Amino acid sequence: MEQYRIQGGNRLHGEIEISGAKNAAVAIIPAALLVNGVCRIENLPEISDTETLLHILRSLGAEIRMLTPSSVEIDCTRVTWQNADYDLMRKIRASYYFIGSMLGRFGHAQTTMPGGCNFGVRPIDQHEKGMRALGASIDVRNGFIFGEGRLRGAEVHLDKVSVGATINIMLAACTAEGKSIIRNAAREPHIVDVATFLNTMGADIRGAGTDTIKINGVPALHGGSYTIIPDQIEAATYMIATAGCGGEVLIKNVIPKHLDCISAKLREMGTVVEEYPDSVLVRSSHPLRGVSVKTQPYPGYPTDAQPQITAVLTQARGTSIVTEDVYEGNRYKYVNELRKMGAQIRVEGKTAIVEGGIPLTGALVAACDLRAGAAMVIAGLCARGTTWVEDVHFIERGYQDFVGKLRSLGADIQLVELPDRPLAGDATA
Ligand code: EPU
Repeated sequence: MEQYRIQGGNRLHGEIEISGAKNAAVAIIPAALLVNGVCRIENLPEISDTETLLHILRSLGAEIRMLTPSSVEIDCTRVTWQNADYDLMRKIRASYYFIGSMLGRFGHAQTTMPGGCNFGVRPIDQHEKGMRALGASIDVRNGFIFGEGRLRGAEVHLDKVSVGATINIMLAACTAEGKSIIRNAAREPHIVDVATFLNTMGADIRGAGTDTIKINGVPALHGGSYTIIPDQIEAATYMIATAGCGGEVLIKNVIPKHLDCISAKLREMGTVVEEYPDSVLVRSSHPLRGVSVKTQPYPGYPTDAQPQITAVLTQARGTSIVTEDVYEGNRYKYVNELRKMGAQIRVEGKTAIVEGGIPLTGALVAACDLRAGAAMVIAGLCARGTTWVEDVHFIERGYQDFVGKLRSLGADIQLVELPDRPLAGDATA
């Protein structure tokens, strides 16, 4: 078991490079199953979720060659139907993309119910609705999802804006016979990235990035090369960390437009954010001002940057109100961990009321999930004394070299093996 040990109080200074977008990569790898030929994928993030997906593809018979740690060639030409590694599938959320890509490739699909971060109920009814509209029968039993049927183009109106359902229906519709339309589609940058990847491989998808996506089915996809966009949420995490710790950081290899709502919120808090063609500079001098934050589908404030900004709002002047409007379940489990560090936060339904300006003190805390883990690290960097963050495997699912990148900015954070546990009274040393 590993944990992070953080000595708080250092300002962040320097430059870092953002890696490829996790939530694009985790769809593009299953999408490679639709391709006859070699897909070369560049700017692949080096995180455990992409490793798991590559293992699943390999278990299906794909040939996979790592050219560099962030560049891979995937050849699914000779893949024939066989059972995947279901233990790996149930570990991650993005395994649901195999429903769309297996149906498109084989006319049948078998996956497990998806795993991933636990924010309460995370239904996949909109994925099922989309597959059924395209002509597949979908059956969920014994923890598995079975799909069967020859796909034909259809119109799907999503009842809820869903990133996963939008991408999954796009995957399934690519090689379906005829034209499909997805209405009320999600508009996140990674939706556009997956559509651009598929188009590079011969698909005919228009309108990705708007709420109406039109897909003309093509007989087959062919090989090609594709470079994944930079990770919007990884960049947001370093921007928020810099705002919280103070200092000046140039965050390179980003698309500033994708960060508009983060930049706007940080400016509202009193942080300077300068935009350049493919980087943003964040300069922060305390004190920060409290603000209201409401999560929404893109281009609104992203739910995946909600825990990180809440951690920093504990240090801002005044009371802040955070509203989680994407997930109906509980995306505030990490608040209990922040309370161990002295934070005063009250959760009422989907709202968290944060009393700012109370110094945090180091403590032993857990990463409840990926972004909650990033929030605990940020809290530790802002706190007095030493913080230990447990369950860091959650963080490593989605952040490439989190410790190395933060250390390069001057943060005092180390990966340590248990039993490097705090002694009573140590935490506020
Ligand atoms: N929803 C339904 N029915 C569905 C699908 C979704 O009711 O069939 C609801 C969800 O319960 C949620 C909302 O719709 O309340 C949005 O869910 P969405 O489908 O957009 O989320 P997802 O596809 O399961 C992806 C990311 C998440 C990110 C969300 C929202 C992946 C693998 N996961 O999840 O990423 O929070 O979109 O942007 O792409 C993360 O990176 O930390 C993470 C959790």
